[in-house]
Amino acid sequence: MEMIDGYGRRINYLRLSVTDRCNLRCRYCMPADGVAKLDHQEVLSYEELYRMAFASVACGIRKIRITGGEPLVRKGLVPFLKRLTEIKGLRELVLTTNGILLQELALPLRQAGVARLNVSLDSLDPENFSRITRGGDLSRVLAGIEAAERAGFPPVKINMVVMRGVNDHEILDFAALTRKKACTVRFIEYMPTLRDEDWDVQSMPGAEILQQIAQQYPLLPLVSGEMAGPARNFRIEGAPGAIGIITPVSGHFCESCNRIRMSASGQVRGCLFSNRSVNLKALLGYGDSGLLRQTLRRIVREKPGQHRLAEEGVQTASIAMSRIGG
Ligand code: GTP
Ligand code: 5AD
Ligand code: SF4
Repeated sequence: MEMIDGYGRRINYLRLSVTDRCNLRCRYCMPADGVAKLDHQEVLSYEELYRMAFASVACGIRKIRITGGEPLVRKGLVPFLKRLTEIKGLRELVLTTNGILLQELALPLRQAGVARLNVSLDSLDPENFSRITRGGDLSRVLAGIEAAERAGFPPVKINMVVMRGVNDHEILDFAALTRKKACTVRFIEYMPTLRDEDWDVQSMPGAEILQQIAQQYPLLPLVSGEMAGPARNFRIEGAPGAIGIITPVSGHFCESCNRIRMSASGQVRGCLFSNRSVNLKALLGYGDSGLLRQTLRRIVREKPGQHRLAEEGVQTASIAMSRIGG
């Protein structure tokens, strides 16, 4: 079974948010005065999340990425992940984390069968890191990344959201990291998710980020695999690590988009920037998985071809990343 959408794209990747809670408050993700949190009854139980995963795999999903908020703050996550890895037909269970709790959890996650980790890290300077995350402790994340290596994970992918005037002076430091370590550093265009008034000033096109790196280091392009994410990848000549550029704003990957996403309350979206979503909570609590699969296939059929940021601008883009999981 596979799911092909109305534009001929094969949808084989589900982003599954397990909580809207987070132990950081990154300035590009949450407003200064915080966000309304989901009530406990609104958050899907592990049983409901499992049904979603199971039905999705039955429909053709092959890769599930666990997201949040911060997924590692949800109690009972590790046994839940172990159950997911036992679903026949699921090829890859992966997770995106801010790394704060990785020191403690890297080994259990690996033992549960999580294949790979992506770690969000926007600064290598303790003070700047604390500013961006509103109080986060960089040393915990760095120790978390080391713990992941020790636990036997393949080299992590580091996600850096580039903001002009905030951390763009660190682009070359992040690039240089790939010369020392086998990690992948992915530079992400800052998406206008908070109706941030500074967004216009802070956003930096991927092409400009790449140019800055290429002026300093010779870059070789790399080919990406079938279940690859949205990054275009490069390697600094001779470096053990790799560099990726993710351009959601200049919008270069809609045509090869392979994913759907579900929030922790059961809201499923065909597109990150789409206003349309379907709540599956009622269906997930209910025995008839046929109806659930039918609904999933309809969501995929109706998946938009591309986001409309370019035409409609920032105004329409206010979405709570901490709920949707990026
Ligand atoms: P890999 O499978 O390892 O390549 O991961 P990924 O890039 O799919 O996932 P990750 O959680 O690391 O996301 C990286 C960045 O890409 C984040 O800033 C996400 O918000 C962004 N992103 C992921 N999927 C989409 C998408 O479908 N549309 C847009 N616009 N951005 C996305
Ligand atoms: N623009 C770009 N990336 C974002 N993320 C969260 N908010 C934004 C934004 N406004 C990223 C996080 C994390 C991923 C899941 O989404 O840094 O790496
Ligand atoms: Fe896919 Fe929407 Fe993301 Fe474009 S913006 S890549 S259509 S999810």
